[in-house]
Amino acid sequence: MQFKTLRDMDLTNKRVLLRADLNVPSQRSKVMDATRIERLKPTIDYLRKTGARILILSHFGRPDGEQNPQMSLAFLIPTLEKCWGVKGIRFVPDCIGEKAERAAENIKAGEIALLENVRFHKGEKANDPEFTAQLARLGDVYVNDAFSAAHRANASTEGLAHHLPSAAGLLMEEELKALNAALDKPQKPVAAIVGGSKISSKLGVLNNIAKKTDYLILGGAMANTFLYATGADVGSSLCEKDMKDEALAIIKTAKDSSCEIVLPIDSIVVEELHSHATSQSVDSTAIPANKMAIDVGEKSIARVKDILNQCRTLLWNGPMGVFEIKPFDHGTNALARHAAQLTQSGALISVAGGGDTISALENAGAQDGFSYISTAGGAFLEWLEGKPLPGVAALVENARRAA
Ligand code: 3PG
Repeated sequence: MQFKTLRDMDLTNKRVLLRADLNVPSQRSKVMDATRIERLKPTIDYLRKTGARILILSHFGRPDGEQNPQMSLAFLIPTLEKCWGVKGIRFVPDCIGEKAERAAENIKAGEIALLENVRFHKGEKANDPEFTAQLARLGDVYVNDAFSAAHRANASTEGLAHHLPSAAGLLMEEELKALNAALDKPQKPVAAIVGGSKISSKLGVLNNIAKKTDYLILGGAMANTFLYATGADVGSSLCEKDMKDEALAIIKTAKDSSCEIVLPIDSIVVEELHSHATSQSVDSTAIPANKMAIDVGEKSIARVKDILNQCRTLLWNGPMGVFEIKPFDHGTNALARHAAQLTQSGALISVAGGGDTISALENAGAQDGFSYISTAGGAFLEWLEGKPLPGVAALVENARRAA
């Protein structure tokens, strides 16, 4: 992981192009979750303290290279100012061209300007060299603090590192350190909890994790596909029957790597899915034809708790059941709270990330108990797959060229 960090750079009075990921959940111009913004504060503080002139680049949504006022970044200014405790952040209505160049010229040490959505230009997604060069003209230094967009080889996430002296921001550094400690150099034994609905969307993740962990604990609907592949009756549960061979191949990979696959022993089943549905607990290998599994049962919870008690590291992605509908969040909540308790007592290092995971942990009230929660969704999954992240690779390449 040989890239430069903020501490390696001379930033005083330099125009710093800071790639952030301000792609936050929002509804009608109201920020619904400011976590990604809050987590950028250490980088903002550091840059302001060193007297950098800060120009922020980010995408928001997927405007496909078109100017789309509904995906303008302007509405974020009050939230940025509040979360970072800064006044007077300037909004620049384009990220290239005359307005952007004038803003970059006039910005003073310690000031912040937010440039408009980079995805309003087709060159961003295409990683177009001409567009990248236009962005590069605005800065003296490029800082990438958007780990959650590092799986995109775009102009502002990858291309800029080929044009300017570059460094990782503090959030990028923290994410990579925590994630590497959990998968590449973990304290053993290591357990991974992988839930969610489809194995088809997590084949790469499951294959990689099966090679690197001691226990692969499966939950959510994807566990049904594994149960089905091993000959169980899964009733009317969500199940990708056409993924049987892939599930069996993952089981074999795990066996060859001495990783134990842990499937539910008992399941909470219902006939129809709604919060008042009558539920019962049944053997996970014999689910009645008219019933579907929507959560793990008490025996499964006890078994997983027992495994976690023996482990030193836990990696968590995806819920164990339909946590959005109470009371079927019980399995996810019980295990998330147990992992948080073990972490707080110093017995476990717990790292979670990706998609629904954060809302599932928040719903359980367990998020503050984990050692590390990644801000990334898709990037977290690609990292779990063991794929190189273009945004990180470009920083490493930049440091190698500068050496
Ligand atoms: C995310 O929210 O996962 C990142 O901001 C990447 O967004 P994208 O999937 O639209 O590239």
